[in-house]
This record gives sequence, structure tokens and C-alpha cells, in this order.
Amino acid sequence: MSEGLILRGRALAALYGRIPSYHVSLNLGSPLSPLDLESRLQAAVHTRRTFAIISHPDAGKTTLTEKLLLYGGAIHLAGSVKSRRAARHATSDWMKLEQERGISVTSSVMQFQYDGFNINLLDTPGHEDFSEDTYRTLVAADSAVMLLDNRKGVEDRTRQLFSVCKRRRIPIFTFVNKCDRVGEDPLKLLSDVEADLDIACHPITWPIHKDNAFVGVYDRRRQLVSLFERADDHGASRAAVQVSSLHDPALADLIGSESHHRLIQDISLLDEAGHPFDEEKVTSGELSPVFFGSALTNFGVEPFLREFLELAPEPAPRESSLGVVQPNDEQFTGFVFKIQANMDARHRDRVAFVRICSGRFEAGMQVKHVRTGKSIRLASPQQFLARERTAVEEAWPGDVIGVMDRGTLRIGDTLSEASDLEFSGIPRFAPEHFARVVIGDPMKRKQLDSGLRQLTEEGAAQVFFTSGTETSGPTPIVGAVGMLQFDVMLHRLEHEYGAMCRLERITARYPRWVTGPVAEIERIARDRGRMLLYDAKGNPLILFEDSWGLRWALERETSVTFHEVAP
Ligand code: G4P
Repeated sequence: MSEGLILRGRALAALYGRIPSYHVSLNLGSPLSPLDLESRLQAAVHTRRTFAIISHPDAGKTTLTEKLLLYGGAIHLAGSVKSRRAARHATSDWMKLEQERGISVTSSVMQFQYDGFNINLLDTPGHEDFSEDTYRTLVAADSAVMLLDNRKGVEDRTRQLFSVCKRRRIPIFTFVNKCDRVGEDPLKLLSDVEADLDIACHPITWPIHKDNAFVGVYDRRRQLVSLFERADDHGASRAAVQVSSLHDPALADLIGSESHHRLIQDISLLDEAGHPFDEEKVTSGELSPVFFGSALTNFGVEPFLREFLELAPEPAPRESSLGVVQPNDEQFTGFVFKIQANMDARHRDRVAFVRICSGRFEAGMQVKHVRTGKSIRLASPQQFLARERTAVEEAWPGDVIGVMDRGTLRIGDTLSEASDLEFSGIPRFAPEHFARVVIGDPMKRKQLDSGLRQLTEEGAAQVFFTSGTETSGPTPIVGAVGMLQFDVMLHRLEHEYGAMCRLERITARYPRWVTGPVAEIERIARDRGRMLLYDAKGNPLILFEDSWGLRWALERETSVTFHEVAP
């Protein structure tokens, strides 16, 4: 198998010594009787949890991911400070590292098992310039864990990602990290989160302090106290977890009567004045269950994981063009949320990441590629564990599999065993930066076009033209959500397609897709000499010069409709 499919998790995992080879699911034989299929499908759905961690850089996502994998048995020794820094480095200096070590910064998936659950942890790039990739990954997740630094609370990027989750109405869990050092008062921190994000919070675990040091957590749902031992090796081995009840007199001896008193006071306050736990509100994303801990010292991570797996939703039903698809539907369906190409420069392989929505996936099965109506065979399907990718024989709703693709699949495509349903798609966000692509050698135009087509299909770039009828205008215009995406584009155009280019930045950066009468759209663009562009599907988009111009148009131009995401 090629070395090419490298997940960001490898950045962590590659640095640890022994990683067991690990298979998420095994071939248990086929064909299945309908009854077998039904019961196995139910059991599989019941134990699947598919989620992503959202956070501002530096809140501790890499560290927490590493600890979760540790509990999943994927990594026996959690990483050292040095390795974590190397992993984080990958996000800021990706190209060099990508070349040298094959580390990918784009989203990928890590699968592991814990306590009878099969977990798909969707990783997202740390760098905000890849936020489009993150948005798409969130569409494949059934819930999100919002990670906060206990001194900083909600930060810019947390806010951005939170709003994407909120739009999708998925459950959002909160993990307040870095509790090993003194941070904001937990009550104040939560009230700030509530005010800032307009979401109610319900702490499931609560920090216990002794002499200002974080010594454990109290689990309100289970009425359990977990005390931790601070290991010299920063939690590099499994933390010991001792449990007793809140009113156990031994607890006062352990943490001192002052801390005990404060804990009882805090919990009574939460019981009386806080938001009560309400499962429905959790499911609809209105109430966030909150946990406290420290990923670095491994305090509170396991109590979080246990509760989270129980409270987090199973794979959710999904809207489609033919109605809601239930995960227990026996017919296999799924959609592509990510395409990663040329992961192995020698083979030009291209892997499409498919989130399974219903039914049973079986290696080699023929499925319908709904957009083209063609039947395709899903070749060499794989599942992932940090460092490993393993051939998969079967997979279930909630799972993510990677399938080899020869250029047929695109982001958002639906795959279905039989029917013509299509999932409602993956939002394409308006880019915030635009530039003209100027080719160094005009003889390489073909290479440029094929590179741009590939990058567009992968979602790594958005390409626009100045005429709705051309698909390769004289000077294509590219759009990106973050500036770093431009560097990636130029690098890949040159190294993968042999088309050396430079970019001429366009200053206008407030785009909106527009629907309505063509004459009106053209008039609005012409009025102030604005740029009228067309995306690869021919949808018109107006580029506004500044936020004032955009606001003005939004308020007054009522004959057309403006869209922030592609219609
Ligand atoms: P990120 O992926 O969200 O960007 O964060 P990452 O895990 O890399 O952690 C960012 C910094 O926060 C690191 O410190 C890391 O050690 C620290 N950190 C993570 N979890 C905790 C925690 O529970 N408590 C404390 N006190 N610190 C934590 P750094 O100094 O920036 O890097 P390093 O030298 O530790 O690698």
C-alpha cells in the first residue's frame, strides 16, 4: 500500500514508538440474511459515535486528541512535549513538512474503540486558512466537542466554528481545558460562554481544587468523584482513577474540608440556579454539556470520554432529495465530504472520503453514483487509525471510509446502493480572497486548466470566470477562504501539474452569489463597475468593493437574492 495516505494523526502517531495494528471492523462473511443484517445494523449504529473537535489554535486539540487515542488503546504512550510541538509545527509550515515527512494538514479521520463504542474522530486542520476544509468535515460529524482554554474561554476561531455547528444544529459538548493551572472562575467562564455563543451550559463534571490545585472532578450525573494522581511524566501513562461519593467523609480528608465545602456549595448552586440537563436540548444544540479537565496532565479526560460517548448521538438521520434517510435503512448510502489527491506523488492516487449514512458497506460493492447515474465499484476501501490505514471489508453508518477514485467523485456526491436520492450537499462558502492566475508559460495552459479542475473538485480552490459560458476564460480567477490556500494552490499547480503561475491579487473581497433576473444581476454589477464572476457551475457572483457597498446592496436591491453560500 502506498505511503501516500497520510493522516494528520500521523503527525502525532508517527512520533510514538509502538502502535498496534488495528482493525476497526472485520469481515464477518456475506451475504447476510435480512434478519442478520437488521440486527447487526442496529448494533453497529448504536455503538457508532462520529464527532469533531473544534477549537482556537493552542487550546489543546492536539493534546486532547492524543489522549483520546491513548484511551482507545491506539497509542500506549502519549507524546512528549517535543513531539507535540513538531505536530503543531506541521500546521504552520506545512509544505516543507509535507514534502519531508508526508504530513498532511488537511482533515482526516481517526478511528478507535473504547468501552464498546466505535469512534470516528474527524480531525480538522489547525490553521484557519483551511477553514473551508473544516466546515466540510463538520457536515460529516454527528456532534462536536468545543475545546476551550480555561483562561481564554471563547476565542475568534471557536466562534466561527461554533456558528457552523449551530447552523447544522448538531449537539455541541464543551471541554474546558488546562484546568491544571489557575484559570477563569468556572462559573464566570460558563456565563461568558452562554452570553457569547447564545447557548445554555450544563456542567456534567465540575473541577475540584485543593490549595488552588486542580485535584479531580465531580460527575453530577453519576454522583461520582474522580481524583487524579499527578504523574511526573505528564500523564504519559494512564491516570489512576479513584471513585467515591460526594458525601463520603473520606473526601473531606482527601481534599480538605475547605475544598469539600466549596465543592458542595458550587454543586448546590448549579443544581438550583443552573440550566437543568435536557437531552432534547442537547440533541438540538441548544444546551451544551460541559466538562472540566486537563488534556496535558490527563485529568478529567477519561470521565469526559465515558460521559461523552453515552450522551453523544448515534449517527443521525440525514435529509435527502427523497426524504429523510434513517441510518437503520438497509440500503447503503453515503456522501463524499473530502477528496485528497496526489497523496502519493508516484501514483497520483486520489482518495475520496465517504461518510456512510445508512446501510452496510461491503468491500467491492457496486453503488450508484447519483450525480452521473453510473454504477461504480468502490475499490480498495480503507479505514484509518492515526498511523495506519487498513483495508476494510465492511463498514456501517457513522463510519468514514476512503475509496480510491480515478477522478469520478466530487465533494458532495452521493453514493447509493439503489435509489436516486441525493444528500442536501455540502455548503460552499464564499471565498474571502480573490486573485487572477497568471501563467508563466502560455504553452502550459492545458496543465493549468487540468490542475485547477482537480483543485476545484477537491475543494482546495474555487475557480471563477468572467463569462458564464466559458469554463476556461482567458485569465481564471481563484478564490480562497484563507491566504495560505493560495500558497498551496501555486505549489501544487507547479509541482503536480507543471504549470508555474503567479497570482495578481484582486482587492474587492466581499462576494455574494446572486439569483434573480439576469438583467438585474448585470445592472447591479455594472452600476459601480463591480466584478461579475461565474463559478464553475455557471452561477453568477458579484464582488463588492467594501462591506459598505455590500450592505447597501443587501438593503436596497430587492429584485435579486444574495447568498453567502453557493446556491
Ligand atoms: P492545539 O492543537 O489546539 O493548537 O494545541 P496543542 O495541543 O498543541 O497545545 C497548545 C499548548 O497548550 C501546548 O503548550 C500544550 O502543551 C498546552 N496544553 C495543552 N493542554 C494543556 C493542559 O491541559 N494544561 C496546560 N497547562 N497546557 C496544556 P506549548 O507550550 O505551546 O507547547 P509545548 O511546548 O507544550 O509543546
